[in-house]
Parts: sequence; structure tokens; C-alpha cells
Amino acid sequence: MSIDWNTAFAPRALKLTASEIRELLKLINQPDIISFAGGIPDPALFPHAILAETFHEILSNPATRDAALQYSVSEGYQPLREWLAQTYLPKIGIATHADNILITNGSQQGLEFLAKLFIGTGDRIIVTNPSYLGALQAFSLYEPTFVTVPVQDDGVDLAALEAEMAKGAKFFYLTPDFGNPCGATVSLAQRRAMLELAYRYGIAIIEDSAYDQLRYDGEPVPPLLALDSDRLNQPRPLSEATAQGQVIYTGTFSKSIVPALRIGWIVAPQPVLQKLVLMKQASDLHTPTLNQMAMFKVAETIIFDHAAKIRAVYRERRDAMLTALNEFMPDGVSWTEPEGGMFVWVTLPEGLDAAEILAKSIAEIRVAFVPGAAFYPDRSGKNTIRLSFSVPPPEKVRDGIKRLGGLITEAVAALKVDA
Ligand SMILES: Cc1ncc(COP(=O)(O)O)c(C=O)c1O
Repeated sequence: MSIDWNTAFAPRALKLTASEIRELLKLINQPDIISFAGGIPDPALFPHAILAETFHEILSNPATRDAALQYSVSEGYQPLREWLAQTYLPKIGIATHADNILITNGSQQGLEFLAKLFIGTGDRIIVTNPSYLGALQAFSLYEPTFVTVPVQDDGVDLAALEAEMAKGAKFFYLTPDFGNPCGATVSLAQRRAMLELAYRYGIAIIEDSAYDQLRYDGEPVPPLLALDSDRLNQPRPLSEATAQGQVIYTGTFSKSIVPALRIGWIVAPQPVLQKLVLMKQASDLHTPTLNQMAMFKVAETIIFDHAAKIRAVYRERRDAMLTALNEFMPDGVSWTEPEGGMFVWVTLPEGLDAAEILAKSIAEIRVAFVPGAAFYPDRSGKNTIRLSFSVPPPEKVRDGIKRLGGLITEAVAALKVDA
């Protein structure tokens, strides 16, 4: 008897479906396409030489090579955890302890573990509308009830957040700095207000900080985790403070160094971290030791200088995109002006469908982007577009936006005729 796979799968697996735009986006690697689709770093900026040297050094040195190739502890490579706690995180205002850090296979794995840890079928979780697609995918598998709060200029609609928190939820997930997809930054006042609500209603906040090194202008705003531990640090000692707290933080070197080594981390209060370590054990035992050792060496040596270098390049591309949008987009189209990250978020007039525009755009003008609806748990936002400026050089950014502006100008004109 043959197997009917769809009845053999657990019901949650049936929620895993490929999106229709993936098919279109497979075309973007063709050389004549200008792609604003992928939220990826520019490979030309990868620190190739030091990575090659470091791997060679670790693998050729008898003092390090066996440990690099052997099984290791689930918590992560201790020198990396210590360095994150003592050097890297304090630079962005976070006081924590190595014991509160778990090294993960990219921050994506951290998000998946948090979903597995917190979400039972039907549990309410609060997310921003729109949100990072990879987080929505990780959460969906555990069948939550998605509750959304609208994103606005300086954060979210706080009244909506309070109303939803008052009804209870497992957590509130957000990317407060130059979020994917909107590029918006949550203001300090909003961060404090979010924390107050989280304390009032006893709800955890998951702070996804994937773009922490990519601020191009404006003053850094302290992470929610920093504000949370400030409260807890006084007057308790750090070790006690980090046993408590309500913010769980995910970080990564994917955007600031390279994504392929898959080095991310979670900072969490002890009760959460202990469970996450057990999940890590069950899932993949540990993040590859060789990659952790290499990333530690490279990050410790270059991270702050390297981040300054890549910021200069991305800043120029962001500026090229904003200038071109001003020049080539018709009235009725608006967009965010991100202080960092990789994305500009465009809102078209109501009635336009970004997925239809993408099909036309690839076929006729050879420009790719991601239609925004994919980032909305409720599948609204059909008239929104995510543009990434991280890979094409400024002249290509300008050319691509000029072409896209032409296509959207036609679409807006056609909309007016129909109306
Ligand atoms: C907001 C956000 N969080 C997390 C990730 C996952 O990154 P990684 O798993 O490479 O650390 C990404 C990647 O695009 C992202 O944009």
C-alpha cells in the first residue's frame, strides 16, 4: 500500500507552503535583472582574506584543530560567549553575562526555538503588521493565533498593543531597529512604553536585532534589552538581574560579517536559557565549533572597523535609492526613510497590487522586488513593496528605480482611468 503523504504529515506541516512569489523570484539571478528583492549583504564586502587566514590557522594549529573539529557543548564556544557579554553587547548598551547567552545557527534558529518553547496550538502571539517573514514562518509552524499591531512612524500603535496585551499573549515580537521589512526605528519613548506594558501585563518581548551594526545616521536608541536590564540592575547584582527580565534578544553576525557561518545568539533570562539549551541539544547538539572559533577570531579582530566600512557603502546605496524615489515615483506613492538596515518600504495607492506589478516588472523592465503582502500575517498590504538597496551599486539603484518609477506611474494612471 502506498503512502498518502499529506495524511501522514502532522497537521502543522500542512501549514508549510511555498509562496507563489518564490517562483517569480527564482528568476532574479539572471544577469540582466536589477534585484531589490533579497535582504542579503553584498558579497563583495565579505572579509574574505581574514576568513581564509583564520580557518587555515585554526585547522593547522595542533593546539586548536582537534577542538574545532570535535563535538562540543550546546551553549556555544565559551570565548565567543564571554566576548559577546563583555565587549560586543556592552558597546550597544547591553549588560549581560555569558551564562545568559546561547550561540545559535543564525538568529533564525533562535526564533524557531523561541516559537517551539512558547507557542502551543492556538496561543496568542503579538507581532507587528508587517513583520520579518522568516519569523512568521518559524512561528506559524507551531500554530499560534497571530495578533497584529499596526506599525507607524516611530514604532507601533501603542493603544492597539495595550488592548492586545491586556487580553494576554505568549510574547510580543518586533525588530525595533530598521526593521525588516519597513526599515523603521522604534523611538526611545515607544520602547519605554512597550516595556511598561510588558511589565503591566506580564508579557515577554522578543527583540530581533539583526541589523544592530547597520545604522547610517541619527543617534543609536538603546535596545529594549538594555532598558530592561537597567531596571533590573538596580540595585541587584548582574548575575541576579539576568535571571529575571522580560526581554529575550536575538542577534547575528549575518549582516555585519557573513551569513554562511550561521553564527547568531540569544540573550535570555536563566529560566528561558536553560530550556533553550535543551532544545539546542535535541535539535543539532551545537553550532559548528569551527565556525564559532573562526567567527570569534574574525569578529574580535575586525567587527567595529569592518562595520564602519560596510556602513559607508550601504549608506551611499540608501541615499541613491531615496534620491531616485523622489525623482521618479509619481504622486500618491510614499516610502520610509530608514536610518539603517537594508530596506525601504514603499506604499502604493490603494487598489494597486504589488504582486501583479512584480510579474510585469520582471517581464518588461527586468527589475525585481518583494511584494509586501508576504510580510503581513493577515495577508493585507497588497499595495506595499519591500525594496532592498544592499547589493546593487548606486548607478544600478538609480536605473532600477527609474524603470520601476515608470512602470508604477503607468499603473497609477491606469488606476485613475478605471476609477
Ligand atoms: C529581521 C531578521 N531577523 C533574523 C534574520 C535571520 O538572520 P540569520 O539567521 O542569518 O542570523 C534576518 C535575515 O534576513 C532578518 O532580516
